[in-house]
Amino acid sequence: MNATDELMNDHRTIERMLTILNTAASKADAGQDLPPDFFTKVVDFIRNFADKAHHGKEEDNLFPAMEKRGIPRQGGPIAVMLNEHDLGRTYVRGMDDAGHRLMRGDREALTLGAKNAHAYADLLAQHIRKEDNILYAMADRVLSQSDQKNLLTRFSEIDKERLGPEKRQQYMSLLDELERELSIKA
Ligand SMILES: [Fe+2]
Ligand SMILES: [Fe+2]
Repeated sequence: MNATDELMNDHRTIERMLTILNTAASKADAGQDLPPDFFTKVVDFIRNFADKAHHGKEEDNLFPAMEKRGIPRQGGPIAVMLNEHDLGRTYVRGMDDAGHRLMRGDREALTLGAKNAHAYADLLAQHIRKEDNILYAMADRVLSQSDQKNLLTRFSEIDKERLGPEKRQQYMSLLDELERELSIKA
């Protein structure tokens, strides 16, 4: 198994959350209510699973390893990926604001939450496509077998340090729970 295979597995999990976001946001667009803690729960998942753990594997490990093998950080696909991670964080802040306001009973914030949820899901869906098809293929071309092995070791450390087995299980259950609530077939 290559390090990029593990990153693609993370993508499949993140995509489940993107479907949840689009489904919930479309409901809100159609005037339906969402549970007041919906955005708080999804923001917690995204910040820890998608950003701290998955983007951490990319930003702190994969991208530097690719740079060492001659892929420049500036002006190329790595710079585009980093910009998209940052743009994603602004949409997550929008969902977080909406989440706090909804928890205080401000139903108007549903529109703000839905707008940022759609924007985040659209951005991440195309970001993931670019990584799966272009960036990771490039990584597999330039990285040596020992680079791949070192990355896999580092990734399991990151999963342990930033997530841990209990949290991971908790997030997988959250995906099951939200899919059930929103009648999404996994
Ligand atoms: Fe990424
Ligand atoms: Fe990624």
